[in-house]
Amino acid sequence: MAQPVPVLLWACCALTALAGAPERVVLEPLPELELGRAYNLTCRVLNVAPVTHLTVTLRRGGRTLHTETCQRRTGTGPDNITVTQEIIPRRRDHGQEITCHAALDLTPHGPHFENSSSAVELKVYDLPEKPQLQTSLYIEVGTRATARCGVAGVFPAAGEARFTLSFGGESLNFTVTTSGDTATAQGEVWSPSPGRRQLNCTVSVGPVSRSAGQSVLVYSLPEPILELTESRTLVNSSVTVTCRSPEADPPGVLLQIRDTKGDPVPSAPTQHPVQFQLTAGEEDDGREFTCEARPDSDIPAVKRTSARLTVLYGPRMDDSGCPREWIWEEGTEQTFSCLARGNPAPAVECTKDGVSVSIGVQQQVRREDAGTYHCKAANAHGSASRDVTVQVEYLNILLLVLLPLAVAVALTGLGVGGYRYYCSTRIRKYRLKQQQAKLAEQGKPAEQMSLNGAAQNTPDPEHSV
Ligand SMILES: *[C@@H]1O[C@H](CO)[C@@H](O)[C@H](O)[C@H]1NC(C)=O
Ligand SMILES: *[C@@H]1O[C@H](CO)[C@@H](O)[C@H](O)[C@H]1NC(C)=O
Ligand SMILES: *[C@@H]1O[C@H](CO)[C@@H](O)[C@H](O)[C@H]1NC(C)=O
Ligand SMILES: *[C@@H]1O[C@H](CO)[C@@H](O)[C@H](O)[C@H]1NC(C)=O
Ligand SMILES: *[C@@H]1O[C@H](CO)[C@@H](O)[C@H](O)[C@H]1NC(C)=O
Ligand SMILES: *[C@@H]1O[C@H](CO)[C@@H](O)[C@H](O)[C@H]1NC(C)=O
Repeated sequence: MAQPVPVLLWACCALTALAGAPERVVLEPLPELELGRAYNLTCRVLNVAPVTHLTVTLRRGGRTLHTETCQRRTGTGPDNITVTQEIIPRRRDHGQEITCHAALDLTPHGPHFENSSSAVELKVYDLPEKPQLQTSLYIEVGTRATARCGVAGVFPAAGEARFTLSFGGESLNFTVTTSGDTATAQGEVWSPSPGRRQLNCTVSVGPVSRSAGQSVLVYSLPEPILELTESRTLVNSSVTVTCRSPEADPPGVLLQIRDTKGDPVPSAPTQHPVQFQLTAGEEDDGREFTCEARPDSDIPAVKRTSARLTVLYGPRMDDSGCPREWIWEEGTEQTFSCLARGNPAPAVECTKDGVSVSIGVQQQVRREDAGTYHCKAANAHGSASRDVTVQVEYLNILLLVLLPLAVAVALTGLGVGGYRYYCSTRIRKYRLKQQQAKLAEQGKPAEQMSLNGAAQNTPDPEHSV
């Protein structure tokens, strides 16, 4: 901020009387100064003479602010001299000392008197910004809300800020925190009755103060009422859901039924009681309905009441809860399970060959577990049953032994046959040669013998193996 240059103002010296040292030099006390405003420093020099030889000097922090001489004065008797100097305080003036000096210089024909006033410290204050209020624009009757009032740029120190907070004309208790040059007051607002309330915050530092206000609407929105014709009902019976509101202030409440589980209930928000009718199905068991009330204005409030519907129905068994077939491997750990839906939860019992079977217990599968199980579920509203078959897969021991044996036999058979074939071929060739040699000796052609196959079929006593 540009600091204005101090303006000098003359306060003319009064008449001078007889010679006398300045009896008293008095600097008028200064108030707390607001930054940027003009103030007069006033120094009085009492009973001084001759004033034509008087020099009055105002100093700020050791530096001369203003010097005044009264040479143009005419009087000779003792007089009171007043010197005035206007100052416009700046931030850097804070804490500086102002002194007033009076010097009566009668040299070379007389003495040189000097006297000073006591020092006056300058206290400069500034609050350049408006406080900022932070609170809800709407609060509910009987509930507490936090209200904050913060102000930045506090000079000389945030700790010097003084607050007053009021809500609806009554002053609030609050705590103040500071951070840098910012001070914040925090309190709680509360009202026992609906209506508009004014929240006011005033911050002061030294002679400076600034205020901020905010209007707060205190509203009342009672919990809506949600009614079900019957919260526990039998399947297929008709149920009516009703949502209504007791009085609200300001009046005007929008109501809507919502379904927190399934589809949104088709109804537009309205001011009258809202109704929704349904035929209770099994799937509606545990369905939750919510009655929602909102003010018919820009007050961002909502109140909800919920109710749960219980639908009673007989047992239902399906493939997901109670599968019709299990295929298990012998020796593995398996759990026979069969669950039935129904409200109240049905008791399920399964038997095999008239013997009760434990359900939901992990057991090692035995071969004799295979078979048909008869499962029955019952509750107060009916019963249901279904047959479950269990197949047990196991490896045949006989097969385990016989199969490798069969393979071995097959392989052995192949080996013997192959050898036999090999031997017979070689022997035949050999015998053929022998016979050819024999025939040659007898003069018969070799071809004839070989063609009629006699070599194979007629054993030769001479060359039998
Ligand atoms: C200076 O002024 C004080 C009071 O302001 C006074 O008591 C004192 O006598 C004065 N001194 C002289 C030398 O006049
Ligand atoms: C200071 O004093 C002068 C002369 O007495 C006067 O005109 C002026 O208004 C005063 N200023 C203030 C800020 O009081
Ligand atoms: C100077 O001021 C003093 C005290 O205020 C007063 O007693 C005295 O009469 C004044 N003198 C003159 C000449 O006005
Ligand atoms: C709040 O402050 C405004 C000015 O900002 C004032 O008119 C009003 O009277 C104050 N209200 C209360 C309750 O103090
Ligand atoms: C404020 O504090 C005083 C003293 O602790 C207490 O008596 C008073 O009830 C409080 N006021 C509020 C509005 O809380
Ligand atoms: C409920 O209604 C459905 C379809 O209308 C019907 O199949 C079922 O048997 C009824 N259940 C009872 C318990 O009446």
